[in-house]
Amino acid sequence: MIDGHGKRYLDGCGGAAVSCLGHSHPALIKAAQQQIETLPYAHTSFFTTDVMEELADTLVDSAPGMGKVLLVSGGSEAIEAALKLSRQYFVEKGEPTRHLFIARRQSYHGNTLGALAVGGNEWRRKHFAPLMMPGNHIAPCFAYRNKRDDESPEQYAHRVAEELEDKILDLGPSNVAAFVAETVVGATAGAVPPLPGYFERIRDICDQHGIHLILDEVMCGTGRTGSMMAYEQEGIVPDIVTMAKGLAAGYQPIGALLCRHEITDLISKGSGFFQHGHTFMGHATAVATSLATLKVIEKENLLDNVISQGDAIQARLFADLGDHENVGDIRGRGLLIGVEFVANRDTKEPLDPAKKTHNHVQRTAFENGLLCYGMGGTIDGRVGDHVLIAPPYNISDNHVDELVNKFTAAVTASFTQA
Ligand SMILES: Cc1ncc(COP(=O)(O)O)c(C=O)c1O
Repeated sequence: MIDGHGKRYLDGCGGAAVSCLGHSHPALIKAAQQQIETLPYAHTSFFTTDVMEELADTLVDSAPGMGKVLLVSGGSEAIEAALKLSRQYFVEKGEPTRHLFIARRQSYHGNTLGALAVGGNEWRRKHFAPLMMPGNHIAPCFAYRNKRDDESPEQYAHRVAEELEDKILDLGPSNVAAFVAETVVGATAGAVPPLPGYFERIRDICDQHGIHLILDEVMCGTGRTGSMMAYEQEGIVPDIVTMAKGLAAGYQPIGALLCRHEITDLISKGSGFFQHGHTFMGHATAVATSLATLKVIEKENLLDNVISQGDAIQARLFADLGDHENVGDIRGRGLLIGVEFVANRDTKEPLDPAKKTHNHVQRTAFENGLLCYGMGGTIDGRVGDHVLIAPPYNISDNHVDELVNKFTAAVTASFTQA
């Protein structure tokens, strides 16, 4: 990116993990232009469009177990639609008491009231709490912070998954509609992948109590972690999954909700329609651009690049910063990478939140010509600092070097100045 003064930046985070194909991919620009010339927009109550049909087919083909797609304009809209779809399904199934959602602390699901209610970030929620439905939160699967030394990773994963069972029993199983979780936690906790076995146990618990598993892949989906859907790496299939951010690579705003056939079949045979909608749903120009994005990812074999460059970046970060006294953890999956900062590596004591170290690192990197995404409140919404690295899927070896060199320099300078 080049700013108004001609200064050049390497985009190492794509805004918030959005710009997955850089900022000037000719295929995406052409797709948007062509669609505007053909038909920029058509309201979905009158028409479907060729590109909408093709995108829906492409998404269903690339999301194992999913049967239907709803195209919206962003991540929060996709989450709102997911909550409402789950609720409507249970009402039509004759289980109208199911109205509660369980989610996890240290997750972000969007800024609209329903999404904020299920989100587990205290700082974002607190002003609006009186306006929201009650939040029911359990612990995240966050081994660096919460695994006890006397537990194996498997024991820890099992322990935190069991919190879902306890919460369901607490709320009354017949009152619960769904469990909502980011498959790989993105911005709030800083790129935290689940441990093996965690989502398998979560799936079992949801099945046992007849509740939906809604996975939020707004940030970690669309190839960001090396598979088109992040859940493919967990050996499970959700009931509903949301996507947005990278879906049109930032060239257009778009989001999507996918669900199992069983959900739409029941509603089709019942009321016949999902009682929900937005004016810009399935916006033709956004949809055409999204379709082009998915084609580029496939044609340029970019999921392989996501995996190999993600590994390369993590290896380089370990080499350059693995011994730094203020770097507590380097983690992530594919090109969703987080670096957590601490005051003391041995005790994992966090930094003083008043110092806003995450901001300091982000600002120093910005001055050095690197965009990365700093966040505070990593541990509990108040304390903890991390920076997210989420470069485009087509990042080259040279840009990996530049990214790691500039990031290392920013971290070193930030702690030297502090
Ligand atoms: C995991 C997750 N879900 C939902 C959202 C909300 O998406 P949007 O900002 O497009 O409404 C975000 C945005 O950061 C997100 O990271």
